[in-house]
Amino acid sequence: MNVHSESSASQPIRIGIIGVGAVSDYHHVPGIRIDPRAELVAACDENEVLLEQRKSDWGIEKTTTDYETLCADPDIDAIIIATPNFTHKDMAIAAARHGKHIMCEKPLGLSGDEVHEMRNAAVAAGVVHMTAFTYRFAPSMRYIHHLVTSGAIGAPRHFRSQRFLDWPETSWGWRQYKKTAGAGDLFDMTIHRIDFAMDLMGKIDKLCGSVAQFCSREETTSGESCPPSDVDDWSALIGVFQNGGVGVWEGTTVAKGYNFNGFGHELAEINGSAGTVRYHLHEPNKIWIGKTGQDVDAIDVPEEYLKPSGSPRDVTQGKPADVFRYDLIWEFCSAITEGRDAMPSFDHGLNAQIIADAVLESNTSGSWINVQHRLV
Ligand SMILES: NC(=O)c1ccc[n+]([C@@H]2O[C@H](COP(=O)([O-])OP(=O)(O)OC[C@H]3O[C@@H](n4cnc5c(N)ncnc54)[C@H](O)[C@@H]3O)[C@@H](O)[C@H]2O)c1
Repeated sequence: MNVHSESSASQPIRIGIIGVGAVSDYHHVPGIRIDPRAELVAACDENEVLLEQRKSDWGIEKTTTDYETLCADPDIDAIIIATPNFTHKDMAIAAARHGKHIMCEKPLGLSGDEVHEMRNAAVAAGVVHMTAFTYRFAPSMRYIHHLVTSGAIGAPRHFRSQRFLDWPETSWGWRQYKKTAGAGDLFDMTIHRIDFAMDLMGKIDKLCGSVAQFCSREETTSGESCPPSDVDDWSALIGVFQNGGVGVWEGTTVAKGYNFNGFGHELAEINGSAGTVRYHLHEPNKIWIGKTGQDVDAIDVPEEYLKPSGSPRDVTQGKPADVFRYDLIWEFCSAITEGRDAMPSFDHGLNAQIIADAVLESNTSGSWINVQHRLV
């Protein structure tokens, strides 16, 4: 692995972003701004108008519409890939070829085969590779991880995840086509929940999955017609973990009445042999906990779990459900400066992709799928 060498430890990690759309503006650039080890030096996007706007909003000098140029730039140490899903593979392989550390948005690719190629390229290049699985960084999730792995709720038995959004039925742009997104709710939303379930419970052995589409989305928000969507807007799976526990996941983007200021509803919960712990995305500084015979009730997440150790983020600032997303950059830069693997890495992105692919396979075949020999 190329460590950000000690001689350069006082030098910033020079970051280039490919894809200057929503997620870069909302998560990654604010994360770079608060990390004294990081400097945003360049950006790439094929949309020249947006690129110009970001250039002045973000205060960067170098911009390009060609990702190869950005990847080849000797004055860049690390690259964030935040473009539509179908573009990730070639960009990650180019970044690895040029020896850049890589954080790539989820889903890493359109299929496990693509993601294998990306992972192998990053491993061969010896660079830090990270998958942007955001919700692992919620304070509540960090504390629940500690409680579950330290045995505080006994043996984990049932995992449960619900992600219900009430989104408009107009076009989702690139997100609504297999060619550009791979799948709908499954790759956009449920894949995060597959990842954090395996982080809490261990690997999945077998699963049974289903997807469905209720909205064809043939009109844009401005009323123009567009080709109909060919991806799911509801996804679900039942899984059996290697530890003997079981899991149930359900996600939808068309749950009417679940608007909640546009944030929808999210619950994730584990019932263990001695207690239950629950997370709600929109109150990430609390968890809900109950031991045998008690009623599950809210408690505050202890101070030390509100952010990663050493992070300069002021936990009293900003909306709690937004600001933990900045901690991804802290982890990425920490892995680079400490010369260790990032968490979650491309391995975790690959495993989640393999599970999501198996959900589609199960939906087509109507049968359970054994996945234990497919995971890395
Ligand atoms: N981790 C999370 O919580 C989270 C949240 C939102 C989005 N995402 C992921 O981030 C990625 C981007 O999503 P978004 O919502 O920011 O999308 P977006 O459509 O807002 O932005 C994507 C940008 O990529 C640019 N682009 C497309 N093809 C390009 C190319 N070949 N070269 C350069 N630029 C190109 C587009 O012009 C656009 O500006 C997706 O993979 C999505 O799944 C993750």
